[in-house]
Amino acid sequence: MSHLVAPSLLSADFTDLKSAVRMVDESPASWLHIDVMDGVFVPNISFGFPVIKAIRPLTTKAFDVHLMIVRPENYIGAFRDAGADVLSVHIEASPHLHRTVQAIKAAGMKAGVAINPHTPVSALEEVLADIDLVCLMSVNPGFGGQQFIPRTFQKIEDLVELRKKTGSKALIEVDGGVSLGNARQLVHTGADVLVAGNSVFGAPDPAVAITELSA
Ligand code: DX5
Ligand code: ZN
Repeated sequence: MSHLVAPSLLSADFTDLKSAVRMVDESPASWLHIDVMDGVFVPNISFGFPVIKAIRPLTTKAFDVHLMIVRPENYIGAFRDAGADVLSVHIEASPHLHRTVQAIKAAGMKAGVAINPHTPVSALEEVLADIDLVCLMSVNPGFGGQQFIPRTFQKIEDLVELRKKTGSKALIEVDGGVSLGNARQLVHTGADVLVAGNSVFGAPDPAVAITELSA
């Protein structure tokens, strides 16, 4: 399988979201990555339901919604109604992760689990066969434009192994500090989905950057 690219809206020009979403719509990107932050789970606040709803009619690309919020289980229906196709919750914010994953799937979405850089991949063992996506954080969540943490390569390898062991089909998504400089090696190591914020929207031509990251 060739890999997917998911540009992250967090790095787009917020005064012109329409152009940003249309650009992604016309690009080879598969998903639009949407980071929701609550100022509690992470030290930053981004955007929520009204913004997601407003941009939903602008593209047919799947919405890959990454929740960096406490009590994500309380908002599953609301994110589905706003237009999420893939919904990821953080393992560190989910004491009843198995129940939350089942609820996301019952709501008709693909279920993802995100893990922070300090969380070992082994923490996913009991849930890996039930989920559609692992969002492997390669920076500490909260901000775009941070430096990639090299240890992520080992975590991808560990996850590929654990996926085999558990018979899981979950996609491995790498989120944070992805650029043209590391994309090829990430895919070679086992990444299925590359999230890219700054390396897309900070590029002179974001559409070209998406095409290059997709190659
Ligand atoms: C960070 C977010 C990322 C962010 C990635 O908390 O989860 O999705 O937008 O941005 P870059 O690619 O700039 O590191
Ligand atoms: Zn993200």
